[in-house]
Amino acid sequence: MNKKTIEDVEVRGKKVLVRCDFNVPQDSEGNITDDTRIRGALPTIKYLMANGAKVILMSHLGRPKGVGYEKKYSLKPVADRLSQLLNSNVYFAEDGDVVGENAKKISAGLKDGEVMLLENLRFVKGETKNDKEFAKKLASLGELYVNDAFGTAHRAHASTAGVAEYLPAVAGYLIEKEISVMGKALNNPDRPLIAILGGAKVSDKIGVINNLLEKVDKLIIGGGMAYTFVKAMGMEVGKSLLEADKIDYAKEMIEKAKSKGVKLLLPVDTVVAKEFKADAEHSVVDINSIPADAMGLDIGPKTIELFEKELKGAKTVIWNGPMGVFEMPAFAVGTRAIAKALSEIDGTTIIGGGDSASAVKQLGYADKMTHISTGGGASLEFLEGRELPGIAALNDK
Ligand code: 3PG
Repeated sequence: MNKKTIEDVEVRGKKVLVRCDFNVPQDSEGNITDDTRIRGALPTIKYLMANGAKVILMSHLGRPKGVGYEKKYSLKPVADRLSQLLNSNVYFAEDGDVVGENAKKISAGLKDGEVMLLENLRFVKGETKNDKEFAKKLASLGELYVNDAFGTAHRAHASTAGVAEYLPAVAGYLIEKEISVMGKALNNPDRPLIAILGGAKVSDKIGVINNLLEKVDKLIIGGGMAYTFVKAMGMEVGKSLLEADKIDYAKEMIEKAKSKGVKLLLPVDTVVAKEFKADAEHSVVDINSIPADAMGLDIGPKTIELFEKELKGAKTVIWNGPMGVFEMPAFAVGTRAIAKALSEIDGTTIIGGGDSASAVKQLGYADKMTHISTGGGASLEFLEGRELPGIAALNDK
């Protein structure tokens, strides 16, 4: 990475303002249901503590209205979990205006190696508007800015981009790791490089498909988005997910794959049901025989076999998006099979964030993958080849 990191600057005795992505899922009572993103930030926080920095953490959580404190979106549960994980006290500045009385008082009294967390940045409208005044207020708390919020690096907000104009700005370990693993896979991969794309919509992945066709040896497409490609190949898809306005784009991508010599693989069979329901009656049909009144909800057994065969010998695999409706056990078979196939690959396996990351965790294959990105939208934009504002804002080496 061509950006400075925490190891390139002196942190001892300094107030270090660290942007993390603590936007974690919670249940209806506010209990954190997946703390991967909090754990992801620990190396940076521990390094700063061990090296005598005064650590001021900040994050958003969800999408509050931006008009002050809302209990549902408070970062208090994150402060508690963080304190457990660090086995150390984390001061929590419970201010609806984020840089308020508590934040100022606690930060002024922080000792070297101590940690505090600000309240949800999005309680203030200026955060998502990348408002200069709010960025300045945040910057006034620290002497150095560290961005370790890979999951939010695709947003140009006050705490991810604006603040970097007022303080020396460097990357934390999580950002460094995400960029180096995914950057290598895109720009200097061990080959063959195979990408697997799934999930519901072609429209979410337009830029990704286009960019990956420049890089990969094979592109495997499954999930809901596959049916638009199937239609583009001239077959009928019944009631399956279809983005009619993306059929021409799918045709273009099929042509691009041909001209680039990329092997494009689509499902050859599919699991169909008449209703979108967990207990819907289902059966397997060939991809060119989807009944008019049925919808494809998972890849079929012949497709699983084909994809497994094509994945053998891969040296780098990037996977983003489930193969079927994996939240429903009857339609999780394809996603599970792909997760298992990846777990057996002797090479680098990278899971883009979001649904594929939850699928891999839920199915028990998380520790078998080289890297599970903490970014959903951010990893997609990175795979599109776009510059992420939260990274662009950091100081060059
Ligand atoms: C995410 O979960 O993708 C990030 O935390 C960004 O959240 P946002 O989509 O609300 O900006």
